[in-house]
Amino acid sequence: MKIYLIIGSVRLGRIGPQIAEWIKKEIQANDPSSDIELIDLREWYLPMDDEPNLPASGHYEKEHTKAWARKISQGEMFIFLTPQYNGGYPAALKNAIDHLYAEWSGKPACIVSYAYRGGGRAAAQLKQILTGVRMLTQENAVEISLSQLVVDDSGCITDIENALSQYKQAMFRAGRASGNRQFSSNAVRRSDHYEEGVYSNIPFKIHNRKYVPYWVLHFGFLGLGFFAPFLVAYYQMKRSGSI
Ligand SMILES: Cc1cc2nc3c(=O)[nH]c(=O)nc-3n(C[C@H](O)[C@H](O)[C@H](O)COP(=O)(O)O)c2cc1C
Repeated sequence: MKIYLIIGSVRLGRIGPQIAEWIKKEIQANDPSSDIELIDLREWYLPMDDEPNLPASGHYEKEHTKAWARKISQGEMFIFLTPQYNGGYPAALKNAIDHLYAEWSGKPACIVSYAYRGGGRAAAQLKQILTGVRMLTQENAVEISLSQLVVDDSGCITDIENALSQYKQAMFRAGRASGNRQFSSNAVRRSDHYEEGVYSNIPFKIHNRKYVPYWVLHFGFLGLGFFAPFLVAYYQMKRSGSI
C-alpha cells in the first residue's frame, strides 16, 4: 500500500519535516515493507485557488494541478501531518486539498497534529475537511504536544527519538486503523457529489443519469404555483357542473 505523508507546514523555520522524518522512520522500523513517501507542500507549490473549474468536475487546466492530481491519485493511504496555527490548520494545506476532489475520495486518512497542546483543534477542523472530500478519516488522531520538546538554536528538535517515543503506539494504532479501512479509489464517483446538490450551479443527476439544471426545477415550481389556482378553480367548476 502506497502511503503518502503530507507535511502541512510550509513556513520558513518549520519543524514539520523533522517530525515527518521521525514518523516515516518509525513506520518503516515497525514494518519494513511499508512504502511510505513524504510529500512536502513547499515542493508542491500550488498558487491559491487558481483553477477556473470546480475541482469536483476533474477538469484541471493548470499543469501544476494536473501533476498534483497525478501524484495524489497514486496514494492509497494518507497521513496528514499538521501544525496548529491560531486554532486551525495551515492555509497551504487547505489549498492543496481544495485543488483536487476525486483523487482524495474513498481513501483512508490519518491525522497527526502538533502544537503546544497537541493541536486538537487543527486536527478536528482538518478531519471535517477531509470528510468533505470523502476521505475515510479515522477516530483516533495523534496529537503531539510541543511543550515537551526542546528546539535548539538551529531549529532542530533535541533528542527527537526520546521526545516523541511516547507517541509511537498511538501512531501505529492510528495507522493500523486507517490501513484496515476498506480502500477503494472508486468508492466515491464524481457524480455522487453532484447528487447532493452541493453547488447550486451544477446540474443534479436523476435516476436515468440525465442531468437536470436547477433553473428548470426553479421555473417548474414557479409555473406550478402560478397555474395551481386556475387548475383548482377549473376542477371545482367541473364538479359543480357549471362547465
Ligand atoms: C501562525 C502561527 C500560529 C500558531 N498558533 C498556535 C496555536 O494556536 N496553538 C499552539 O499551540 N501553537 C501555535 N503556534 C505554534 C506552532 O504550533 C509551532 O510554532 C509549530 O512549530 C508550528 O509548526 P511548524 O514549525 O511545522 O510550522 C502557532 C505558530 C504559528 C506560526
